[in-house]
Parts: sequence; C-alpha cells; structure tokens
Amino acid sequence: MARAREHWGSRIGVVFAAAGNAVGLGNLLRFPSKVALYGGGAFIIPYLISLILFGLPLMWVEWVAGRYGGKRGHGTTVGILGLITKNNLGRLLGIFGVAAPVLIVFYYIYIESWTLGYAFHSLIGQMPKPVPTSETSEALKPFADFLKQYTSPSLEAYIFFWITFLLNWYVLHRGIRRGIELVAKVGMPLLLLMGVALAIVIFTSKDPTPEWSAIRGLEYIWKPDFSRILEGKVWVEAAGQIFFTLSLGMGAIAVYASYVKEKEDIALMGVATASTNEFVEIVLGSAIAIPAAFLFFGPASIPELAGAGTFRLGFMSMPAVLNSLPLGFFWSFVWFMLLFIAAFTSSIALIQPLITFLEDEVKLSHAKAVAISMILVLIGAHLSIFVPGYIDELDFWAGSFMLLFFGIVEIIFFIWLFGPDNFIRELNEGSVLRIPKWVAYLTGTVSLAFLVIILLVWTFQNLPSVISQTGLGVWLGRATIFLFLLMLGYLTILSSREEG
Ligand code: ALA
Repeated sequence: MARAREHWGSRIGVVFAAAGNAVGLGNLLRFPSKVALYGGGAFIIPYLISLILFGLPLMWVEWVAGRYGGKRGHGTTVGILGLITKNNLGRLLGIFGVAAPVLIVFYYIYIESWTLGYAFHSLIGQMPKPVPTSETSEALKPFADFLKQYTSPSLEAYIFFWITFLLNWYVLHRGIRRGIELVAKVGMPLLLLMGVALAIVIFTSKDPTPEWSAIRGLEYIWKPDFSRILEGKVWVEAAGQIFFTLSLGMGAIAVYASYVKEKEDIALMGVATASTNEFVEIVLGSAIAIPAAFLFFGPASIPELAGAGTFRLGFMSMPAVLNSLPLGFFWSFVWFMLLFIAAFTSSIALIQPLITFLEDEVKLSHAKAVAISMILVLIGAHLSIFVPGYIDELDFWAGSFMLLFFGIVEIIFFIWLFGPDNFIRELNEGSVLRIPKWVAYLTGTVSLAFLVIILLVWTFQNLPSVISQTGLGVWLGRATIFLFLLMLGYLTILSSREEG
C-alpha cells in the first residue's frame, strides 16, 4: 500500500516550481558564454533543433514518468523505471536519476553561495572598483583577486557556503508545498522582474566609447558564423546546454511531476516549464552579461571573457560594469540576487530526488530523509570546496555524460518499453492540448538516434583526455561517483526485497 504523498498546492505553484527547477546558473552564465564561443547566431540553430527534437519531448517524458510514478507511490526514476520492467533492472538503471542531480549539487551549491556573498558585498558597497584602463584583464584585476577569495575559500566564503547550505536544508525540510512551492512563488516573479530591470539598465546606459553599445553587443552574439555549423563540437555543446538548462536527464523534473494531482495537465506543464526557461535563457540570458561586457570593454574582450569559462562574465565583468553605473552597488546587488534566486530554486530541485528516494523507496520519514540527504550534500560540497580538480571531474561525469546517457534510457523506457500508445495516452490525460501520436514515434526514432550520435561524438571527443587525468581531485571525484552509485544500488536492492 503506497503512503500518502504530498501534492503541490496550486497550478501556478507547480508552474513556478518547475520553472525554478529549470532556470538556474545555466541560463544566465553558461548560455551566454556558449553562444559567444560557438558561433553566435549559428549556435542557435543546433540549439533550437535540439530543443524541438529532444528538449520538449524529454520534458514531456519526465512529466509523464513523474505523474505515472507519483500516482503509484514512486517519485524517483528508481521506482518509476521499476514499475515498467517490474524487476530490478529498471530500478537499478533509475539510480542515475537520483545520482546525477545530487552529484551536480555537490559543486552547484558552492557556486550558489558565491552569489550570496557577492550580493552582500554589493549591498554594503564593498565591491572592488575597475582599474581605468583599456586593457580588459588589467581593468578586471581587482575582480580577479576578489574572486580568488571564493575559489580558494576565505573564512567569509566558507560562512556564505554555510548560510546557503542551511537555507537549502530549511526549505527542503518544510516540504513540497510549504517549502519549495512557496519559495518558487515568491522567487520566480522576483527573478523575472530583476532580469528585465537589469536588461533595461544595461540597454539605456551611455556608452563610454560611442561605437560600443549594448545593442551592438546583442548584434555581436546573434550574428551567425555559419562556418561553425558543421563542427561536431558546436552540436554537442548545444545539445548539452539543452539538457543542463532544462534539467533533463537528471530525473529532477520527474520528481517534481510526481507531486502533481492526478488529473494535472502535464502536457501544458511541460510546455510552460520549457517556455519559461527559454524566455529567461534566450531573452534575458543574452540581454545581460554579453551586452554589458560589450558596452564597457568592447568587442575584442568578448572571446576572452566568455572563453575563460562562465565565471569571468558573471563574477568579474558584470560587477565591474554594474559598479561603474550610477547606483552601481544596487544594480550589482540585483544581479547577484538574480543569480542566487535562480541557483537556489535549482539546487533545492537537485537535492529533492534523493529525499524522495529515501522517502518512497527506503521508507524513511521526511525529516530523516532530508537530514541524511543534506549530510551527504555537506560532505560532497566540502570536497568541492577544498579539493582542486574535484569539481571538473564531477561536472564531466554527472553534469554531462550521465545526462545524455540517462536521456537515452528515459526515451527507451517511456516510448518503447511503456509503448508509444500508452505514452501518448498518459500525456494527453487531463490535457487541453492534444499531442499527436507521431510525436512519440518521432521521439523514439529520430530524437533517440540524434542523442545516441551526440553521446558517441561527445564521448570520443572528451573521454580520452578525461580518463588520462590524474590527481587527488580526479580520484576523489571518481571515488565519490562510484561509492554513491554503489550506495544507491545497495539501498535499491534492499528496498525492493522488502517490498517484494
Ligand atoms: N537547470 C539548472 C540550470 O540551468 C540546473 O542551472
């Protein structure tokens, strides 16, 4: 007999929670860097093809999986895939939908805490000032020094980590409706408001150099460089971005979907989640960080800023630009609070799968499930904070490989093993939209083939260099992944024995 599970309180609450799950650092930092690096407007072609070909279909797969499992007392992919195979094979494969999000949160939550520290510094007017020089790296030197306090943490950075960690714990402890939903209902409208306000400030700012303007910056990123479109790497990066930004292949959307009411319109929910995410990503993601950098540092600076990873744009050039404006401390605060809310509503979504797993499968009480999950997150986050190389290793396996791999598994399970007819029937149940059957066949064939090719290209491109890496962080990263999968596997087998 399945235990009574919590439900979301309102439809708008589900929409905000799911949007909060998807909208994160990926939208505001990762996306603009990728666009600038991989061909500007040309990147958007594989990006949109990926969105339509497997982004939206996989979003629907996770919504179907979640509601289907939730009705039967299973909110994570462990229980849900087990319902389909009726044996441990499904349950064991489902482990990836619990492991990937939690392994990602081991480092995500640490970066999230930087945004809180930066917001605090901005508010009290203690951010560095840019050096007045035309040389971008020279101008940003005070910000590079400031960032070092966070990358190799100072006591202050460590305190902000604890505040962030305890806030996550608190909200998750309050549960689905009183915790996650409440935060999303307040946070998401605020996020949208702050994003639009920042874009307006940037686009109405006067150019220090007349030919550099935010509009030119926007043109710069959207100007297509079609020579890049034939590069495998551009396609792989675009597909990877779709997975990361929509929180797909992580099992996290399915977990949220498992708490909907029985007749919830999940087809519409899938569309609402994807479109809100894409609005924040394509409109706000491209209207803030790059145009601001262009406005102040000019076109030559963009490849350098975007090329050095997502941190330079977000934590160096943005505060430099904003702190040079009138009321700069306030706009800098708004920027980092925007990042914090985006990251916070995602990190709680990334931890929830483990909590749901411990509740639904291991049958722990909510408080115990939350406490154990948070202790594991604390350990993982400490390794991310103190061991160099650890974050990169986790990001490679959990933030990229597992998502692609698990996306493929989800399609095989929910289209082919569940059956295309059953899938479409489930999707359309309670829905005002009528999704035609060919969508299931397209997902099960073309989208699946596309994902398999992307995974192969990605593996050939990256695996040799990653497996040749050594060092403490690398080995600890691998050991963490191995032990975590082992622990989840053990608990899965144990719980299925008890159930059987
Ligand atoms: N989807 C989340 C993000 O974009 C993980 O940051």
